[in-house]
Amino acid sequence: MNAPIVVDSVAALRAQVRDWRRAGLRVAMVPTMGALHDGHISLVRIALERAERCVVSIFVNPAQFAPTEDLDKYPRQLARDLDRLREAGAHLAFTPGVSEMYPAGFATKISVGGPSSGLETDFRPNFFDGVATVVAKLFLQAEPDCAVFGEKDYQQLCVVRQLCRDLDLPVEIVGAPTVRDAHGLAMSSRNAYLGEAELGVARQLNVILRRTAAALSDGADEAAATEDAAKALVSAGFRKVDYVAARAGVTLAPWQRNRNGRLLAAAWLGTTRLIDNVEIPSA
Ligand code: PAF
Repeated sequence: MNAPIVVDSVAALRAQVRDWRRAGLRVAMVPTMGALHDGHISLVRIALERAERCVVSIFVNPAQFAPTEDLDKYPRQLARDLDRLREAGAHLAFTPGVSEMYPAGFATKISVGGPSSGLETDFRPNFFDGVATVVAKLFLQAEPDCAVFGEKDYQQLCVVRQLCRDLDLPVEIVGAPTVRDAHGLAMSSRNAYLGEAELGVARQLNVILRRTAAALSDGADEAAATEDAAKALVSAGFRKVDYVAARAGVTLAPWQRNRNGRLLAAAWLGTTRLIDNVEIPSA
């Protein structure tokens, strides 16, 4: 495979994408913060099934980190990421610096309601404003036909869909199934923080979520089942559980029995915060 073109300015990104569009090629985008793993590569594959050209952005977005969060220690490994993108067949890597995305005087914030309320927002109040603002910028910069986001960040996927609907951004949002290791652990850049023993505990997150989703489908009481799941996570070795919650699949409104839903959780393993979610099939 050819190495992807690497550009770090909006002007160069626009020029390249417009050349492709003039040639009649469809363009797909995969927004990332780098530290690419198999989950990201699966998003690139899906992008390449839907378009002739694939743009991957690599930008650790400071606007979505709180001052207490891991912005400084977030893994950055551009050379390795570019190798992975070459192997995957991506055509362009957009790697802007902070001053390209947020030049001096930058003063705009996009705040999405609806699916952003509760769950992550209860614990990371500014997170989705940061995500929505950077994703809107990336879409306006690259003007992709479609963009692929992982279901692992399920609330983010719902927020991005709402953003595009509300702002009439002409980008088709494609949700991609979560890629897991052989033991069910969802791929995440933050797994790099975990030692061998912690990985064993982390794998329980998906096991407990699947068990709880099945119990909910079979008629278990929602409050009791989610509380039991939180207790099971702590017994398995998680330090703290931020939430285990059942929600409607698209709007993330409260879950209604016999409707398709999503069971979402966030929990701390030492100093690492992990999230995951599974479908609650309608009975
Ligand atoms: O999911 C991520 O990696 C980020 O939240 C995103 C969508 C690239 C925005 O910075």
